Amino acid sequence: MIRTRLTERLGLDLPVMLAPMALAGGGELAAACAEAGAFGLVGGGYGDLDWTRREWAILTRRLANSAAARHAGCGFITWKLDQDASALDWVLDQPLLPQAIFLSFGDPRPYASRIARAGVRLICQIQGLAELPAAIEAGAEIIVAQGGAAGGHGAVAATARSTMVFVPEAADWLAAHAPGVMLLGAGGIADGRGLASVLMLGADGALVGSRLWASREGLAAQGAKEQALAADGDATARSPIFDVLRRKDWPAEYDFRALRNALHRTWEGREAELRANPAAAWAEFDAGAAAGDFTRANVTVGEVTGLIRDLPGAAEIVRRMAAEAEACLAGASRLIVNP
Ligand SMILES: Cc1cc2nc3c(=O)[nH]c(=O)nc-3n(C[C@H](O)[C@H](O)[C@H](O)COP(=O)(O)O)c2cc1C
Repeated sequence: MIRTRLTERLGLDLPVMLAPMALAGGGELAAACAEAGAFGLVGGGYGDLDWTRREWAILTRRLANSAAARHAGCGFITWKLDQDASALDWVLDQPLLPQAIFLSFGDPRPYASRIARAGVRLICQIQGLAELPAAIEAGAEIIVAQGGAAGGHGAVAATARSTMVFVPEAADWLAAHAPGVMLLGAGGIADGRGLASVLMLGADGALVGSRLWASREGLAAQGAKEQALAADGDATARSPIFDVLRRKDWPAEYDFRALRNALHRTWEGREAELRANPAAAWAEFDAGAAAGDFTRANVTVGEVTGLIRDLPGAAEIVRRMAAEAEACLAGASRLIVNP
């Protein structure tokens, strides 16, 4: 078994956390991860109260009275909470309390005292080193350093960090300024090789989104998962195109990685034109989404799409990842030869 500060402090069997994935990571997926010994986060995303209520109820039904209830939490998109924080307030008032609230994409400080008062851990995902002081000031117990390979939202392509460099840089910063705060690597981790790598880079574990999106419990359409299964890692791109098509008003510093499908390709390099005159593209996107046609609707998966070769249950994915990582770490000593 792999032991890190994350497994020790959170009582986990595996140093893996399910990313909170808006609309795709619900109660079943988070509960399956928690039961398998990882940490599961419900994707509260845009803070839709009805969705959060429904999915938290599913998780509660499955985990109530079980030790795995200590391994579950909920995530929100921070700039969206600035408009409406009712879903955060609601979940912090539940009999089965989330063990952690995960905030990403905005300033976590306005929510820090509310989360601390509830006795709940704060996890902050960051896209750049400059966000670290605010996350520490907010009382984050865990920082997630998100690299640009990640599926879904992250820093715009021009400034997105590489997981390979960002994780050790964040580890060094934390060692110097907040040594008790744990670090997870995110973006591009889909198997045991990736998990072992971020541990070597100085993280206490991995945050995994896309690989667990492509699971039996993930709420994405089966057709979307099959597109991801068929694609290789060259097939995704970061851009604002799907945010415009979905009428999501994201701040300019973030964009979105998904499969480059036919509709995306149509608008690549023409984003200003799309923003100026979106009506026809909206209609095409909406028709594609309604029909489950993923040449038009988005398939939200990261670069790791090229490493996804099956769609098993989440428990199998995380256990496989941990077993492979153990084998990688145990085997690594064979690289050292005595002269
Ligand atoms: C389908 C999907 C939805 C996501 N939604 C959210 C979200 O609502 N909030 C958030 O903080 N991150 C979200 N993310 C990003 C994850 O937190 C995480 O950084 C990312 O999945 C890690 O990279 P990976 O996809 O290569 O594992 C999403 C990712 C995916 C794939």
